Amino acid sequence: MSARILYGKEFAAQIKESARLEVEKIKNNFGVTPGLAVIIVGENPASQVYVRNKHKTCEELGIVSEVVAMPEDTTKENLLAKIDELNADKNIHGILVQLPLPAAIKAHSDEILNRIDPKKDVDGFHPVNVGNLVIGNPQLVPCTPAGCIEMLDLAGIEIDGKRAVIIGRSNIVGKPLFHLLLARHATVTVCHTHTKNLAEIAREAEILVAASGKPNLVTGDMIREGATVIDVGINRIAPKKLVGDVDFDAAKEIAGAITPVPGGVGLLTVAMLMKNVVKAAKLQCA
Ligand code: GUN
Repeated sequence: MSARILYGKEFAAQIKESARLEVEKIKNNFGVTPGLAVIIVGENPASQVYVRNKHKTCEELGIVSEVVAMPEDTTKENLLAKIDELNADKNIHGILVQLPLPAAIKAHSDEILNRIDPKKDVDGFHPVNVGNLVIGNPQLVPCTPAGCIEMLDLAGIEIDGKRAVIIGRSNIVGKPLFHLLLARHATVTVCHTHTKNLAEIAREAEILVAASGKPNLVTGDMIREGATVIDVGINRIAPKKLVGDVDFDAAKEIAGAITPVPGGVGLLTVAMLMKNVVKAAKLQCA
């Protein structure tokens, strides 16, 4: 039997609609319009597409959006000064520095991201937010892994007590997702490049999340019958061809539910960012 395909579009629309209603409530209750500032340094074409998409989604939901475009040769000091200014700006509730930063300042990425006020850190990358997630008190959580959980919830797929396996241990996806699934009482294994018997471990998963950045790493034989497969990978294998980390055609014959790439869980990332902006605005109004 072929798997249920979990298309992101419908779920993203639901999340955005609930964020839009929350924005209205904040306006009515506090007289405040939530505001997001996105800083983009340089002219990375993929980053420009992502930033435009964030800006457009803010406008749809009634969130104030400020795009701060800084030149490729921006110094660390200039960028830190801009973040300080936005931290002090009462009309801005969320700050996001689009990654990757240009090569000249990339090595300072941590110092730059850590300058963002944790209450405005809508990426959830600040060590204060990471620490709160680890101790089971999540505040602002990274958008892509939060989107994975939201998708499972909206699809009616139970997490509690399930055997979950994550392939990938990045700070943006794998590690935060480990904590989010654990907080929801799954039994979670994180696999990575040094994992032995990857296929055997993956086959134990009732929820399998692929976030390795390797096209077709997950083959049909690595999937348990009826498992839910969430593919977080976005790999460009030709100028106009994006694929995930999962061999979709083989996997859909074995899995119970599966997300496509493109059009799957990736669409929830911007929706979850909007939810974080609303949450950040509430944190600052309280
Ligand atoms: N570039 C690619 N993904 C992300 C993300 O989640 N946050 C930021 N700030 N930049 C990114």
